[in-house]
Amino acid sequence: MNDTTLEVLFTPADVASLEGRDLSETVCVVFDVLRATSTMITALANGAKVIFPVAEISDALALRREYPDLLLAGERDGVRILSTLSGSISFDLGNSPQEFTAEVVHGRAIAMTTTNGTRALRACARAWTIFVGSFLNLRATADLLQKESPRHLLVVCSGTFEQAAYEDALGAGALCDLLWDNYCAGAISDSAEMARQLFVLEQSDLMSAMTRCRNGRRLLANAELRGDVPLCLQRDRFNLVAELAPDGGVRQRF
Ligand code: MLT
Repeated sequence: MNDTTLEVLFTPADVASLEGRDLSETVCVVFDVLRATSTMITALANGAKVIFPVAEISDALALRREYPDLLLAGERDGVRILSTLSGSISFDLGNSPQEFTAEVVHGRAIAMTTTNGTRALRACARAWTIFVGSFLNLRATADLLQKESPRHLLVVCSGTFEQAAYEDALGAGALCDLLWDNYCAGAISDSAEMARQLFVLEQSDLMSAMTRCRNGRRLLANAELRGDVPLCLQRDRFNLVAELAPDGGVRQRF
């Protein structure tokens, strides 16, 4: 037995409880498979310079006032934030990875606000290191964690509204599965065991699992957004690791 810990948080209520927790020696990996963290990874892979995840629409607008060249991105109820909701301007982008092409984001800074994903990232801000997790960069993230072997690893599922999200649990489980040998001699929480078992059960057909979860069904029912689901499930499409830095920006770690 060693003193490592591996834990998964499933719900937004768990995420909120991080407020009172000492994270100074903890590395967090945040998953919002459908779609915020998958979209961030796509944006960085397509050359975005930095993404500032913020909780509120007003925070994104404040950043835009400070940096007028910044792109505004994000969603409420899954769709791009329009002037009617922001009270001033319409956002440049929604939260679909399909929108974050190299033509649009290369060299750009982006402020992003989404219902769960950007909040979950902010909630981890006091952690030692915060990585942005997705299926798209799973192996690259796992490889770095294997190399750095943090003593305390906390995998955070962003969830959907106030509930757990099946797809995030699957992403968390996939990461736990890759890192299991590194942590099995220490304290593995039941939540990590649950996530891993779930992933093992579903891994042969993740697309079918998406037809059984709330976010998957919502996106698949929308003709414009249904393509996001297979995009976000592509495993190891990008060989990049993304980190939330102390200045609040998510950048590629080189
Ligand atoms: C979120 O952050 O809640 C999600 O990414 C929602 C979405 O699919 O747009």
